[in-house]
Amino acid sequence: MNLNAPAYVKNPKLIAWVADMAALCKPSAIHWCDGSQEEYDRLCQQLVDAGTFKKLNPAKRPNSFLACSDPSDVARVEDRTYICSEKKENAGPTNNWMAPAEMRATLQPLFDGCMQGRTMYVVPFSMGPLGSPIAHVGIELSDSAYVAVNQRIMTRMGKAVYDVIGTDGAFVPCVHTVGAPLTAGQADVKWPCNKTKYIVHYPETREIWSYGSGYGGNALLGKKCFALRIASNMGRDQGWLAEHMLILGVTNPQGKKYHVAAAFPSACGKTNFSMLVPPAGFEGWKVTTIGDDIAWIKPSADGKLHAINPEAGYFGVAPGTNFHTNPNCMASLDKNVIFTNVALTDDGDVWWEGMEKDSGALPDHLIDWQGKDWTPQIARETGAKAAHPNARFTVAATNNPALDSAWDDAAGVVIDAFIFGGRRSTTVPLVTEARTWTEGVYMAATMGSETTAAAAGQQGVVRRDPFAMLPFMGYNMSDYFQHWLNMGDKLKATGAKLPAIYCVNWFRKGEDGKFVWPGYGENMRVLKWMIDRIEGAAKGKDNVFGVSPTYEEITWTGLDFTPEQFKTVTSIDKAAWVQELKLHEELFTQLAYHLPSEMTATKAAIELRLEA
Ligand code: GTP
Ligand code: SPV
Ligand code: MN
Repeated sequence: MNLNAPAYVKNPKLIAWVADMAALCKPSAIHWCDGSQEEYDRLCQQLVDAGTFKKLNPAKRPNSFLACSDPSDVARVEDRTYICSEKKENAGPTNNWMAPAEMRATLQPLFDGCMQGRTMYVVPFSMGPLGSPIAHVGIELSDSAYVAVNQRIMTRMGKAVYDVIGTDGAFVPCVHTVGAPLTAGQADVKWPCNKTKYIVHYPETREIWSYGSGYGGNALLGKKCFALRIASNMGRDQGWLAEHMLILGVTNPQGKKYHVAAAFPSACGKTNFSMLVPPAGFEGWKVTTIGDDIAWIKPSADGKLHAINPEAGYFGVAPGTNFHTNPNCMASLDKNVIFTNVALTDDGDVWWEGMEKDSGALPDHLIDWQGKDWTPQIARETGAKAAHPNARFTVAATNNPALDSAWDDAAGVVIDAFIFGGRRSTTVPLVTEARTWTEGVYMAATMGSETTAAAAGQQGVVRRDPFAMLPFMGYNMSDYFQHWLNMGDKLKATGAKLPAIYCVNWFRKGEDGKFVWPGYGENMRVLKWMIDRIEGAAKGKDNVFGVSPTYEEITWTGLDFTPEQFKTVTSIDKAAWVQELKLHEELFTQLAYHLPSEMTATKAAIELRLEA
């Protein structure tokens, strides 16, 4: 087949790879994406014509679209995600593994002819500012126009990437297919996909192969596959960190600015926290967004950690987002948005659960994400959700009114503190500061969280999610703990002050089953205490595993939160912690291979203090 590679593509290896993949996948056409607005508009129109996109009312939501996926393709598929390192031990006990040769043999027949009747899009993208020494580039071959347009928002996508690659530059090859070839004359469906799914990574050769899904992290391969699973391998080899973290800037009324990176598991509040609007009582404080999901963090010679957001857009959770919980996010969504799996209003706009908090009432009628009629009565009687709980929006970072002026800086921002936080209805207190780097690594490593709709499978069960990286680790988890410990040693050796490490939990529930901590903007009060600690302005008090705030150390202006309520979210229940440490023990048994001795030693120290 004629490749028709544009003249600006000058890398023979890249062209040969595209030719090989075209020969394997057998698309009916090849489209080399240039990343232009004209191309984006054309592909969106094509998706409208195909029925995949519905154009929203331009008076309500200019230049925006709604896509509703197949009900079987709504989230990441962790049980179909593989790390195919040569040795099983290098994938570690938390990843699915298959030997590369066996996986290649498995995928070969699936990819053979998988793009028949479809166009193969060649999507060049940069994770991080184009040409930045921290950035890395990839090429995604995909038979989904939905993927191509989403990638234009989520990454720096376009022909300028070929200038970075040049004639012999490196790129991460990513192959994606929905796995739904069309025979001649066969009509397409709105959301093609396949029951069989494989999300495959070859860490040694730095390749990604994705089969059968068109949704989110399964298909937008720059995100979790590249920026976390492959990049964590690059980071280990090259001495940096690839993390499931938001990055924010926080400026105090005196104009002093701090930068914080926070790891929360999927659908546990990263987007919200990264766009936080300080509440009443925090006049003069400002929070700005560098990133909402992924951070690449590199140490400099002077012992500082510089972080960039490798992405250029947000693929965020829609349900629960409203003008009370996240006004900056709502403002970001006023135009140029792709919505996936939310509901459609009768006037051609979008709706999801949580929006009733803004309007004061539920809409009378909607078309739900599965194309069915939805009314408040149907919802009451059947429990039907108008939007899927993992419904998302895709929007450019530049839409965000709180975007940090340094978000696109090639040098990144210097991190002052790390935060780790899970979704725990019990046991884990509101905020704890680690006394040492090792204690912080322990907190992050043993973090637990209740599972969410961001991944297929059971919801609401507590599982260990070390560093919020469980689904995204590209190598052996214990080696990753060691990598973090080594990073601490490396920073210490420069004499620099290490970033403080905190563990938070916004999700403790009372006896009535409701969240006790008001959360969202009110999380500023916890962030302020962290800054006070960094500045030496808050003493805190020691508990069994770190330092926690006294009631008096939190700024309460503008919020009614009694010492009793504070106790409910901060108390440490001894019996619960004895149980919790058993779960740490279970985790360490699972991760025994290469588990750093610092982990078991820290656990033993906590147990001693708990017994005292
Ligand atoms: P991914 O994009 O999946 O990695 O998730 P994320 O961490 O960016 O999650 P996001 O910010 O989109 O949060 C999603 C869910 O968490 C929504 O249901 C929010 O309403 C809820 N949430 C966020 N912040 C808070 C908070 O402070 N308190 C409570 N109770 N819920 C919160
Ligand atoms: C997550 O699940 O953590 C996400 C969404 O950020 S996805 O890109 O689908 O992985
Ligand atoms: Mn995420």
